[in-house]
Formats: sequence, structure tokens, C-alpha cells
Amino acid sequence: MNTTKIKDKFQELYGPGGTLYVSPGRINLIGEHTDYNGGFVLPGAIDKAMYCVIKPNGTDKVKAYALDLNESSEFGLKEEDKPKEGFAKYIFGVVREMAKRGKEVPGFDIVISGDVPLGAGMSSSAALESAVGYALNDQFGLGFTRPELATIGQSTEHNYVGVKCGIMDQFASCMGKEGSLIRLDCRSLEHEYVPFNPKGYQLVLLNTCVTHELASSAYNKRRESCERVVEAIKKRHPVAETGHALSLLRDANLEMLEEVKNEVSAEDYMRADFVIGEIQRLLDTCEALKKGDYETVGQKMYETHEGLSKKYEVSCPELDFLNDQAKKHGVTGSRVMGGGFGGCTINLVKDEKVADFVKGASEAYEKEFGIKPKVYDVVIKDGARKIE
Ligand code: GLA
Repeated sequence: MNTTKIKDKFQELYGPGGTLYVSPGRINLIGEHTDYNGGFVLPGAIDKAMYCVIKPNGTDKVKAYALDLNESSEFGLKEEDKPKEGFAKYIFGVVREMAKRGKEVPGFDIVISGDVPLGAGMSSSAALESAVGYALNDQFGLGFTRPELATIGQSTEHNYVGVKCGIMDQFASCMGKEGSLIRLDCRSLEHEYVPFNPKGYQLVLLNTCVTHELASSAYNKRRESCERVVEAIKKRHPVAETGHALSLLRDANLEMLEEVKNEVSAEDYMRADFVIGEIQRLLDTCEALKKGDYETVGQKMYETHEGLSKKYEVSCPELDFLNDQAKKHGVTGSRVMGGGFGGCTINLVKDEKVADFVKGASEAYEKEFGIKPKVYDVVIKDGARKIE
């Protein structure tokens, strides 16, 4: 993104100075809706990001401006000062979550802007939380680690936005590394960088350019389904195989799920069945990646799509259509990415098939839905950082 505009706007509104920070959106190769179940994910930070220019203002107020929305907000730093502007809640939330962790942030001026497409499943909100968190941490010397900044972003989402998300998006945004995916254990936050350079293949995102309403409440409902199944399993298996208390679907297996089949609703059963399968799929995918076996990686991606569509029910006609198009064009792997209900499919495509696929799928999609899908190449970049 050209950052001249955001810097100029800062000077125009708040005078000279200000430091520019950035934190990226993310892709996820596989491992969807596993993070809040304590499972694994395989995300990477990308070259689309949220930016902020920030400067302490010596008061106990925040003055904020969202360049892309042309909206401003002014608010205090105490719990009762919650701003009403949607964009400002992310900034306020980060400040409050830092205060809850013992670091009171003084007043500052801030301008935000970015090029992560909204509602595309690339986590623009996590990118914003991470950019603001990283910037405040650096400006005021607060001493939070990057994983701590990720949890601050996640808690912001829980407590000030209302989405009970997992840790994947913020972790990827704060911890991303150029050229690598992150194999993250979402329970322990142990992680490993997996170099990702699939020779002969490209990752292509196709954006349906639709976001279906109520995505956040449907998301929270999925999480509740998982929690109810855990409660049922816990009654029979209070202790997991690993010896600690059973507390997440990560600790369960398909036999345990079968045992409680009649004690949970058919819907909850189906949701948990997907999650337990998906956690295993990610581990299988990592094995295939080690061997450079991209055909298996692609197969797993298709299986994930099938599960997300039929069992977890977070797909939509537009996403299913693009997934079918991928199959038609001989794409190696394709699936809905992120929370679902719209946004992008992520596609693993052989180099020689990219052009035909993109053209064919785009034309067919436009004919069917009257919308031109957007196409993005994926470039894996570093996580949150200071620019200047
Ligand atoms: C959203 C959430 C993540 C994760 C994904 C689904 O992106 O923010 O925590 O749960 O959905 O994998």
C-alpha cells in the first residue's frame, strides 16, 4: 500500500510527527474452526495489511481517524468511555485489554488505513487490533511479547466486538514470517515455522464478494455447539488421554463422540464430528507438506470444504459454486477460508492451470451471481512491525 496518504492525513489532523506501524491479514492453508477447540491451524501473514500512524498526545483522550471510512472518534481511556463508532471499538478494546493486564495506556492520536479487503476472510479486524497493539506497545514501552499482543487482540474481539474468536488470526498477524506458514498449537501456543514454497503450484484466493449477515452470531453458535459436546464427553471422561482435565474438543476422539451421540443434539454431534476430523486433517496435511506431496494437501483441502459446507454449515451457495469451479478446472485443492458465510476460497493451483481457472471460474461466477469475484495472489510476509 502507498503509505503517503495516511502519513499526510495524520499531519493534517494532528500536526507533525507520528510513527507508522503495520500488521498484516492472514491466509490459512487448513485447520478451520479448530483454534477455539484447542486444535492446530496453519496460517501465514500476507501482503495485505492494516496500517496506523500514532503519536502520544499528552492527554487522557484518544483522537482517532479511520481514513478509509472517513470517520473520526474521540474517547477516554476508562471502561465507561466506550466509543460508539464501530472502528474505534477495536482501538478502545486494545487499550482496555492492556489496562486489564496492568499497563495503563496514556492518550494518543491515531490514523488508521489498510488494504485488507473487509469481510473477505483475511482478518482485517485482527490486523487492526495487532497493528494498534504493536504500536502502543512500542510507543509506550509496555513490554508485551508478540504472543501476548495476539491474546490482547483476541480478548478485544471477545469483550468489545462480541465475536468469541480463537487465537489464529491475531497470532498470525503478530507472529508471521516471510515465506513461512505457522503450525500453531492453539492450546499451548507452541508453534513451528513451516517454509512454504510449493514448486509448480500457486495459492490463489477468489473472493465471492459477499458476506452474509449474522456471520458473527452464527460463529458464536458454532463455538457453543462444540462446548456442549465437550460437557457431555467430560461426564464420561473427565481426564484426557494426556492426563490433564478434558476441556476442549482437542482432547476428544471419534469414539468418545460416538458414546455421547444420543446425549447431544444431531446438530451438535455433526459440528463436533467436523472439528475432530479437521484437527486430524491438519496433522495429515503437515505430513504431506514435509514430503512435498501437494496432491494429498489439495485432497485434504477439498475434504475440509466438504466438512465446512455439509457438517459445520458455514459455507454458502457462492462459496460452494467457486469450489465446484475449482474441481471443474482441475485445481489441486480448494476450500472456503476463515470463518465462512462468504469471503474467499483458497485454491492450490498448478502453475499451468492458474490462468484458465481464474478466467473460467470468474466468468461462470459472474454469470451465475451477477458479481465479479476478486482474485488475489498470496504472498506470505512478516507479521506486525514498525515502518518509520
Ligand atoms: C475466524 C476467527 C478465527 C478462526 C476462524 C475459523 O477467522 O477469527 O479465530 O476461528 O474464523 O477457523
